[in-house]
Amino acid sequence: MKKIVILTGAGISAESGLGTFRDEDGLWAQHAIEDVATPEGFARDAHLVHDFYNARRANAAQAQPNAAHHALARLEAEHPGEVFIITQNVDALHEMAGSRNVLHMHGQLDRALCGACGHRWDAPAVMRPEDACPACRVRATRPDVVWFGEIPYGMERIDPALSEADLFAAIGTSGQVFPAAAYGQHARRMGAHTVELNLEDSAASRDFDDCLRGKATEIVPLWVEGLLSRA
Ligand code: OAD
Repeated sequence: MKKIVILTGAGISAESGLGTFRDEDGLWAQHAIEDVATPEGFARDAHLVHDFYNARRANAAQAQPNAAHHALARLEAEHPGEVFIITQNVDALHEMAGSRNVLHMHGQLDRALCGACGHRWDAPAVMRPEDACPACRVRATRPDVVWFGEIPYGMERIDPALSEADLFAAIGTSGQVFPAAAYGQHARRMGAHTVELNLEDSAASRDFDDCLRGKATEIVPLWVEGLLSRA
C-alpha cells in the first residue's frame, strides 16, 4: 500500500457540527441548489448567495477538527508512502488537524475569487456584492467555491493520482455529485483496492471492495490504526 488516495465529503465534518447537504435536515433541504450554488443563482441575486456562504463561513469558523480528521493527519505523518486527500469540503478542518497534502476540489470558504480577473485572496468573514477586487477593482467578488455547472479544481492532479493509487478510500460522501462520485470506479479499474467509510450505503457503494459502516469519528480512527499496524 504505497499510495493512498482519500476522497472526503460532508459526512467527515458532520460530527464537527457542520451540516451535510443531503441528510434529512441537510443544507439542500433548507436552500434551493439553483439559488445558492450555481453561477445563474449568483447572477440573479448575489446578496442571497453571499448571505448563504457568509453563514457557512461563520459556522466553519466555530468548528474544530474531529477524531476522523486527526486520524487522517496521523496517517499522512506515519504512512511510509504518499497520502493524498481530495476533499469536496469547503471547510479547513483537514488542514487544522495537520493534513498537508489536501486538494479542495470544490474550493474553500476562506478564499475569495474575482469573477472578472480571476485573482484570489483570503476571504473576509463577511463578503458583499459591492466588495471590489483588490487587484482589478471590479465589483465581481465571489466566494472561491465551485458551483454546479463549473469545473472542479485540480483535475490535472486528481486523474493521475487515481490512476496511481494502491488504495482509494471514500469517507462521508453520498456519491451523488460527479465527477467525485465516479472516483471509486475509476481508481478500482486502474488497479486500486477501494474502501468506502460511511454512515450508510451510498449511490456509489457498488464500486468499493470493502464497505465500513458507522460514524466517521469511530470508524476512521480504527481503519487508520489497522493500516498503520500493517505497514
Ligand atoms: P452529502 O450531504 O451528499 O452526503 C454526506 C454523506 O455523509 C451521506 O452519505 C451521509 O450518510 C454521510 N454521513 C453523515 N454523517 C456522517 C458521519 N457522522 N459519519 C460518516 N458519514 C456520515 O455530502 P457530499 O457527498 O459531500 O457540492 O456532497 C457532495 C457535494 O454536493 C458537496 O461538495 C457540495 C454538494 O452539493 C457543491 O456545493 C458543488
